[in-house]
Amino acid sequence: MRLFCDMYNLKDYKIKPQPVILAIESSCDETACAIIRGRQVLADRISSSASTQALYGGVVPEIASRAHTDAVGEVVRLALSDAGLESRDIDAVAVTYGAGLLGALLVGLSFAKSFAYALNIPLIAVNHIRGHIAAAYLEDTSLEPPFITLLASGGHTAILRTLSYSESEVLGSTCDDAAGEAFDKVARVLSLPYPGGPNVQKMAEGGNFTVPLPSALIRHGDGMTFSYSGLKTAVINYCHTLAQKGQEVNAHDVAASFQKAALDPLALKAVESAEKYGIKTITAGGGVVANDYLRNTLSALCAERGIKLVLPAKRRCTDNACMIAAEGLNMYLAGNFAPMSVNARAAIPLR
Ligand code: KG4
Ligand code: ZN
Repeated sequence: MRLFCDMYNLKDYKIKPQPVILAIESSCDETACAIIRGRQVLADRISSSASTQALYGGVVPEIASRAHTDAVGEVVRLALSDAGLESRDIDAVAVTYGAGLLGALLVGLSFAKSFAYALNIPLIAVNHIRGHIAAAYLEDTSLEPPFITLLASGGHTAILRTLSYSESEVLGSTCDDAAGEAFDKVARVLSLPYPGGPNVQKMAEGGNFTVPLPSALIRHGDGMTFSYSGLKTAVINYCHTLAQKGQEVNAHDVAASFQKAALDPLALKAVESAEKYGIKTITAGGGVVANDYLRNTLSALCAERGIKLVLPAKRRCTDNACMIAAEGLNMYLAGNFAPMSVNARAAIPLR
């Protein structure tokens, strides 16, 4: 162990202004590798086990870990080839260390440690959620804090005031389920396959907002709070009541009404928060931000109120390694490097 630590020695490492960062993401069912130079994306590879997971109706952790083990070497090789680079051209390795499935995280983390150790370059341990927030930096390379961030993924739903590259204040969040989780559960009620979110969106096409559902916003004002558990239960009760009466459920209307109840409050509160704090820019991140209804609603509100909106490309809303590279770059420039002893973490609190 002593010999190991002595050999990995970054004492004389000089921080570069435009580093080449290789990033690895493996927190759930996507094995991803990206390479950036400064904020320019050179490679963006994603291998997903979602089609295998769909056979089981959701993510099976052991299947995810095995799929990462099979894919990680290949996505890194392909990313280097896409970028036209060799391993020795990489200045630092960023990797998701949490939150996520432990076994899945360990595959990416172990690979990243070996890579950094072999090249004697910095290892940067990235919080997955901070990666979702940072995805917008690659979309608009001139973007600087402060901005309001709408974060909506499978595990988190919050509106944050991003004050600096390392600091975000939570202005409001869900008190129970995350928005993405509710999409996945509503998909099950409507007998739609995994992954739920995109399938609910598809089902909502052509649907009307005719199903009475409670809004996901349950408290206004300073401590705005969202709830997705009540909304999900209302959808379940509506479908069960119709079934008991022998009536048919119009899945298009249920999906459209659910989307509206779930997403309108997020868009509205993001815009109101920007106005309240005199912030001119809104960004967003997380899988639910790939939703077209949310993107269109946010765009319309921001256009109406003169707010600049920076949305990551849909591919960079769901899990990817570009976002880990983007946050890795912020941490690199701050000299925030991880020791080789860094461990994976299943949960990291948002606050
Ligand atoms: O950010 P993400 O890929 O993983 C987490 O960090 O949680 O988010 C996954 C979540 C899932 O719940 C998925 O159903 C949802 O994002 N999602 C969507 C859409 N695409 C993915 N929800 C609504 N509409 C979509 N188009
Ligand atoms: Zn994610």
